[in-house]
Amino acid sequence: MCGIVGYLGKKQAYPILIKGLKRLEYRGYDSSGVAIMNGSVKLFKKKGKVKELENFVGNSDISGTIGIGHTRWATHGEPEDNNAHPHYSGNKRLVMIHNGIIENYASIKSALIELGHTFESDTDTEVFVHLIEEIQEKENLSIEEAVRKALKQVVGAYAIVVIDRLEPNKLVAARKSSPLVVGIGEGEFFIASDATPIIDSTNKVVYLDDEQIAVLNLEEGLKIMDIQKTIVTPTVKELSLRLEEIEKGGYEHFMLKEIHDQPRTIKESMRGRMNEDEGWLKLGGFEDHKDKFLNADRIIFVACGTSWHAALIAEYTIEKLARIPVEVEYASEFRYRDPIITERDVVIAISQSGETADTLAALEIAREKGAFLFGIVNTVGSSISRFTDAGAYIHAGPEIGVASTKAFTGQVTLVTLLALSMAKANGNITEDYFKSSLVELASVPGKISEALKYEEYIEDLSKNINQVNNALYLGRGANFPVALEGALKLKEISYIHAEGYPAAEMKHGPIALIDENMPIIVIATNRSAKEKIISNIQEVKARKGIVIAIVPENEPEIAEIADYTIPIPVCDELVAPLISTIPLQLLSYYIAIQRGCNVDQPRNLAKSVTVE
Ligand code: G6P
Repeated sequence: MCGIVGYLGKKQAYPILIKGLKRLEYRGYDSSGVAIMNGSVKLFKKKGKVKELENFVGNSDISGTIGIGHTRWATHGEPEDNNAHPHYSGNKRLVMIHNGIIENYASIKSALIELGHTFESDTDTEVFVHLIEEIQEKENLSIEEAVRKALKQVVGAYAIVVIDRLEPNKLVAARKSSPLVVGIGEGEFFIASDATPIIDSTNKVVYLDDEQIAVLNLEEGLKIMDIQKTIVTPTVKELSLRLEEIEKGGYEHFMLKEIHDQPRTIKESMRGRMNEDEGWLKLGGFEDHKDKFLNADRIIFVACGTSWHAALIAEYTIEKLARIPVEVEYASEFRYRDPIITERDVVIAISQSGETADTLAALEIAREKGAFLFGIVNTVGSSISRFTDAGAYIHAGPEIGVASTKAFTGQVTLVTLLALSMAKANGNITEDYFKSSLVELASVPGKISEALKYEEYIEDLSKNINQVNNALYLGRGANFPVALEGALKLKEISYIHAEGYPAAEMKHGPIALIDENMPIIVIATNRSAKEKIISNIQEVKARKGIVIAIVPENEPEIAEIADYTIPIPVCDELVAPLISTIPLQLLSYYIAIQRGCNVDQPRNLAKSVTVE
């Protein structure tokens, strides 16, 4: 969604804001803007990336030590200069940035128009700041009090930061369903959508909760109150984020860095949780609430996008190993279809960001119905991690590329650990299987490094198919969600239409699309279904499709009939999705690069979707 950054201190604000916006650009990149207070407000905003904004500001005087900046992912109003943030109030006294959606903006806007307000943009944000102005002027209130009263009238999601020209030395921020973190430095404050703009300056942060208002004041320090005006004592947390984690580290793109990071991040997901030599596995969040899982009628996963694909893999693995019924739901559907949930259900949310609005809303419904809530989340301290009853972090570190890579394999690692924990605890697998599975899991980082060695080959192969308009991905069993994920990656970053299908379903529709221009990527690593996969490949070849098969090393039979094979190290089916995903990520990456696409910031997408 949108990225927010604010600074208040003794340093020049503009360079801090621009650097912060570049780090937040993964959240939205269709327009950006800054406002700096220095007696008067200087406001610059521009359609396009942060770079365009910098060019637009050029050599203009933009000095000042208090300011706010925004990078936008359009919701209300097209990406144009006038719709970019910050937005002024009508009297130009207030200037505000906003992430989220105000659902009742139309009725508020009509009421404000009746009162004589006029608007320069199509945004809900401008309506919001005019509302704050209206309340402030009418009742002669401080900015924080006007914000507090306005919040009572708006319905929707928001993270806002406001400057009041008549109360310089102060930033007022508030959140509901959109993240905000305050950084506390030496004689300075930061505020941002996530900690990445803050880490160079301080590791002391305070995460705001829903319906909290923060007043950052150089003389009086940080004050937090809730929407009812109750003062809240800030809990200062220490950030463990390191600067290297949010830099490209010599790679051309974040996505490529994150693909290569996976041997390390998967190790991190397993670190301290298992030991294959000693034969133990201990997933804290599970161990502490074992009874909930083992007595559950059903385990229901809610997630969106790539995280939903990880949940589908969980369905195969948990049902197979632990024999507990699993359902997988798109969070956006679950929340509106009045689902049947009971106190004997465990609802597991999978989310990289931990902020996805639909996933959070699905959890709220599950909580109302009394289910036990578990989170598999990457971002430490995020809303989902705080809302759930228990959980397990993925520990993949910040993922900056908009297309998810290392978070996905981290999620799949976690659900595999969870499946094994459950199956061991309910006695559904033998001790031998359990121990050999731990050995298999421990071998995954090394096998991913091996799979990455085919990068150059994949880059070359991509040149033969980078001009296609469509692609089909096929897989059986747990490789079906891998096919879905492969197709999603290609769609997201190369804009080629791609679909994932269960291999056997091909004959019920997609086969009609196959001709000599259609690449069909077959994830053919399941030894148990090898003969059936070979038949599927033959069906494709009979229709002249271009077959690219992901196969275990030393697999001559498939290599003979496929046009191209990409080998991965031999592995157990339990961990195969983790390894067969790697060539698919590389394939999408190189096809997108060869098509001249911006892989880290694909058009129309946002990394974290904090609105419906
Ligand atoms: C967006 C991102 C996807 C992501 C999905 C769910 O659509 O572009 O990459 O999979 O949201 O996000 P989450 O943070 O909940 O995993």
